[in-house]
Amino acid sequence: MKPRRFMPSGPLRGTIRVPGDKSISHRSIMLGTLAVGETRVTGLLEGEDVLSTAAAMRAMGASVERIGDGEWAVHGVGVGALLQPQAALDMGNSGTSTRLLMGLVASHPISATFIGDASLSKRPMGRVIEPLGRMGAAFEASEGGRLPLTVRGALPAVPIEYRLPVASAQVKSAVLLAALNTPGVTTVIEPVPTRDHSERMLRGFGADLSVEVEADGTRVIRLAGEAELKPQTIEVPGDPSSAAFFIVAALIIPGSELTIENVGLNPTRAGLIEVLRQMGGQITEVDRREVGGEPVADLIVRHSALKGIEVDPAIVPSMVDEFPVLFVAAALAEGTTITTGLEELRVKESDRISVMAVALTGAGARVTEAADGLTIEGTGGEPLRGTSNSRTKTHLDHRIAMSMAVAGLASRDGVEIDDTRPIATSFPMFEALLDGLAG
Ligand code: S3P
Repeated sequence: MKPRRFMPSGPLRGTIRVPGDKSISHRSIMLGTLAVGETRVTGLLEGEDVLSTAAAMRAMGASVERIGDGEWAVHGVGVGALLQPQAALDMGNSGTSTRLLMGLVASHPISATFIGDASLSKRPMGRVIEPLGRMGAAFEASEGGRLPLTVRGALPAVPIEYRLPVASAQVKSAVLLAALNTPGVTTVIEPVPTRDHSERMLRGFGADLSVEVEADGTRVIRLAGEAELKPQTIEVPGDPSSAAFFIVAALIIPGSELTIENVGLNPTRAGLIEVLRQMGGQITEVDRREVGGEPVADLIVRHSALKGIEVDPAIVPSMVDEFPVLFVAAALAEGTTITTGLEELRVKESDRISVMAVALTGAGARVTEAADGLTIEGTGGEPLRGTSNSRTKTHLDHRIAMSMAVAGLASRDGVEIDDTRPIATSFPMFEALLDGLAG
């Protein structure tokens, strides 16, 4: 455990850059492994989750090397040529590594055992076991479809048509990755759109993938198997989910004016910015451009008098990781913020609905928990009380730790967090960046 108290802060001013996108970083290494030749990546997130993916790909035959700061080279083996790993694959805290790699193994003639930390070992894997089982893979999982778990891949796997029962980019991606080494066409039907990095990147690597959007917005994704991927040069844009903590911090701390450069603004990820603007947040986009096939801009964020709103549940998939920090913004807004449709938050790195309800209540916010969301009465801009003699429990969840750190900046007594170590899973430089600004 590494506790720390985050103290009230003066205005946040200046210019920062956040690290590379976690979703795109994982996929760069995985798809690089499946292309014969050298894939070069710049701006890769060097967080523990992505390093878990890199170690697993090495264990299955790829060479994955760090060349410089955020600069990596992957020498791939090609689709169909993954090697049998000699030991269990330790996924640490990373659900994305686990679920996507289960997909990759499912259509190769190898078996792999996945293990992880206490948080990951509580998370449901049945959602990927189910479609991958239909494709022919076999599983031995711990009780409740959890880790430790062994996947035995099928050769040949069989193509399926799969309608996603939960809005999950991880499940979609697991099936698409399995489809790469499956003869025929695999179809994933997505009634509610989720982040589309897998589709964009698979196309970029040369896969035969099409997306048809039906009148009601349902997306039908078709991927032709036995694909031959070509190595790529990838520039990873900044992670909007990491920028989120600094966006909210600048909005709630009086006098702040912060520029955050190179933030990925893929529409399937940009929900938080829209919701914060609806709350009255001043967030300006400058120099919109494309980086690595993704829309990107620099953001200028100014302190704003936020107002509570009712958040439309339709926007949830495009900000699924940003609710913990949105709850912090809501706790400082004027009036009531109501969130619903957040059931999926209960199966993230922690149960983010109840963990944030307890954490914010402990810091003096007025929060009511429902089955599928939180209702928060904001202070109208007054600092939260903070925690004077209790520690906020973060349950091995990086986004809870960073969100409550931001709450501490906007508090009277500061907020003490029980453990800052999990922050390194997605944002190793978070504290250094924050300390540099808050000084
Ligand atoms: C991710 C998808 C999301 C998200 C996670 C990363 C991805 O999970 O919460 O942090 O890279 O595909 P779900 O797809 O399970 O909602």
